[in-house]
Amino acid sequence: MNPLQTLLGTELPLIQAPMAGVQGSALAIAVSNAGGLGSLPAAMLTPDALRSELQALRAGTTRAFNVNFFCHTPPVPDAAREAAWRAALAPFYAEAGLDIDAVPAGASRVPFGAEAAELLAEFRPAVVSFHFGLPASELVQRVKSWGARVLSSATTVEEARWLEAHGADAIIAQGLEAGGHRGMFLTDDVTTQVGTFALVPQIVRAVDVPVIAAGGIADAAGVAAAMALGAAGVQVGTAYLLCPEATTSPIHRVALQSDAARHTALTNVFTGRPARGIVNRVMRELGVMSAAAPAFPLATAAMAPLRAHGEQQGNGDFSPLWSGQNACGCRAVGAAELTRALTQGLGGQVA
Ligand SMILES: Cc1cc2nc3c(=O)[nH]c(=O)nc-3n(C[C@H](O)[C@H](O)[C@H](O)COP(=O)(O)O)c2cc1C
Repeated sequence: MNPLQTLLGTELPLIQAPMAGVQGSALAIAVSNAGGLGSLPAAMLTPDALRSELQALRAGTTRAFNVNFFCHTPPVPDAAREAAWRAALAPFYAEAGLDIDAVPAGASRVPFGAEAAELLAEFRPAVVSFHFGLPASELVQRVKSWGARVLSSATTVEEARWLEAHGADAIIAQGLEAGGHRGMFLTDDVTTQVGTFALVPQIVRAVDVPVIAAGGIADAAGVAAAMALGAAGVQVGTAYLLCPEATTSPIHRVALQSDAARHTALTNVFTGRPARGIVNRVMRELGVMSAAAPAFPLATAAMAPLRAHGEQQGNGDFSPLWSGQNACGCRAVGAAELTRALTQGLGGQVA
């Protein structure tokens, strides 16, 4: 067993990436039961939904699982920026025949807090992971109080050192290829972001805790290569998006299997923070990084009706089609089969 398998209590050195909005407990249960670490993304769940998903996990597996939260600083609403954002989206609203003044502003994702920590304590998950840094130290200590291991994503060497100093038990090195939100939290300068194979060895040298490689890993050769660079394990997201246990929308599934999936970009137009998705109409027409987009997650509110309208018409023109740069590992097979395929041939590195 390598140090990561010992730390996480799993048979395989593989974490199924938590992916808010496209999966729930079913995917996590399938991966944990297959020997990996299944993850439940909690960023968009109400307390009641989180409780029922945790109950489903407890009923579905006796193995270790991970629960993932965002821990961003809540934004200060800015009326001028909201107005600029609505002005930028107004032509799309007019085209769709929608009323932009009827859209309530507001946050769609709340950061991890005391209420979620109390709920988690009832279920005592073995692993809790965070995106965008770590919560306040008393919350980290609360999570560790029942023996949970704490993980978080680093996108630079500086972030990795910060996470280690603030109590992370292992660090996810999230390379630029990764789908979904960049976990960046010490900088908002996207030019600091580097690819997985440049990032992993640098973070391995900089910290003493196990390093987990994430971003663009889509098959067993990619897993083995990341481990040859010093990673103790991998976190794989995009490759799981076509699994029947994921809740990925039909439009998103079609896009992932099309030629369009070869062109992804970092964009802030869906939430206000840079995230990687398949380039679509709204990204092309607004520009992928819009200065008008309100701070995370406030940009989401005014985009949501356009997304719903587009999806009703059968298009993903306004939908966040999150994907990493390497969608070629996406296969419509059960998550257990995919987990086994990804870790095939690891030989002595598997328990
Ligand atoms: C659809 C999607 C949603 C994601 N949502 C989350 C999330 O809720 N929390 C999180 O920590 N990471 C999230 N991520 C990022 C993953 O943790 C991970 O860094 C990424 O999937 C790895 O790169 P890959 O997609 O190329 O495998 C998401 C990724 C995708 C593709």
